[in-house]
Amino acid sequence: MITIAVTAEGPDEPRVAVSPETVKKLVALGAAVKVQSGAGLRSRFSDELLKAQGAEIVDGAAAAINGADILLKVRRPSPEELAALKPGAIVAAMIEPFNDRPGLESAAGRGATLFSMEFMPRITRAQSMDVLSSQANLAGYKAVVDGASMFGQALPMMMTAAGTVPAAKIFIMGVGVAGLQAIATARRMGAIVSATDVRPATKEQVQSLGAKFVAVEDDEFKQAQTAAGYAKPMSPEYQAKQAELVANHIKIQDIVVTTALIPGRPAPRLITKAMVESMKPGSVIVDLAAERGGNCELTVPGQTVDVGGVTIAGPINLAGTVAVNASSLYAKNLLAFLEVLIDKKEKALKIDWDDDIVKGTLVAKDGKIVHPNLTGN
Ligand code: NAI
Repeated sequence: MITIAVTAEGPDEPRVAVSPETVKKLVALGAAVKVQSGAGLRSRFSDELLKAQGAEIVDGAAAAINGADILLKVRRPSPEELAALKPGAIVAAMIEPFNDRPGLESAAGRGATLFSMEFMPRITRAQSMDVLSSQANLAGYKAVVDGASMFGQALPMMMTAAGTVPAAKIFIMGVGVAGLQAIATARRMGAIVSATDVRPATKEQVQSLGAKFVAVEDDEFKQAQTAAGYAKPMSPEYQAKQAELVANHIKIQDIVVTTALIPGRPAPRLITKAMVESMKPGSVIVDLAAERGGNCELTVPGQTVDVGGVTIAGPINLAGTVAVNASSLYAKNLLAFLEVLIDKKEKALKIDWDDDIVKGTLVAKDGKIVHPNLTGN
């Protein structure tokens, strides 16, 4: 029988790697699921709820991990957790493979088979395992809700006997998964929405959501999407044209949500200090790229600052602020991934090391870091 362990996350991480729904499905796959008592509390998954679906609730992380074949986590496991694992045990988590290299080396050195969920290939078969999408979608939603709250004025136009309340203007910069959900949310809340991106494919997506597309559409723009579907870094010339366009547009916006990212690089700087200063007092910028340095020059990661009456929020882990939903979706992503590793008939682990999903996410095995993005091969 396969034993799966789920332990509590650190104080800054409200999410958990399992839900009542996935416990039930993992048990149906023939697994025993051991959950550290209290691990689901901040996602409102009480021990009782998890137990009712077949989880065994144990006291402390070590008791959950002892003898487990698989450890499921949201974040990279602690050194103590890795030490408690049996050799060769599987870890599936968002291990932030590019952060804390010495920590990653020592995690690999423990002999665990480490899978990084962030490396999930964006192929059709793996869509249900795409943690970046499931979490970015919620972050995009929450950015608009939080932005609206900080704005402190109404979003939709309201015609009342006492007069008309104008609709707020919301500008979304970067139209990936988070940006698309931000547009949809802002539209639902009744704002006048515009959006920008450097990938031409986004134009139609923006317009189909009822928002206005604002971008420098030159020859470079036509080539800005890589084969993998991501944006390329843009030339200084393009950046200058883009800055001029943004400078004129941003002055009249009430809320700006930025989500622009380029894989493996710091976030592109799209909003300068001068642009912030041109905005009306009371306007709000929510910078979802804060963790990667921010799209706005004045963003302070993890903080909300006031610059001449403009509020600039640099939230970290916004998905974690809707932990019930974020954990439910993340746990489903993990379940779909485990279904690739488990032979349903034999109810045993059966890993095809040549599978694109396995190869794409495998970071460390037999004591060594093996992923080509991390070994330079
Ligand atoms: P991301 O988080 O890497 O970037 C967010 C957005 O920022 C992207 O749309 C990017 O084009 C934009 N951006 C980058 N530099 C910019 C700049 N200088 N100015 C303005 N915008 C800029 O992107 P995410 O959300 O991971 O999505 C990337 C692509 O992958 C999208 O096309 C998405 O639809 C696709 N995707 C495909 C999936 C699949 O096939 N399974 C699953 C999820 C996403």
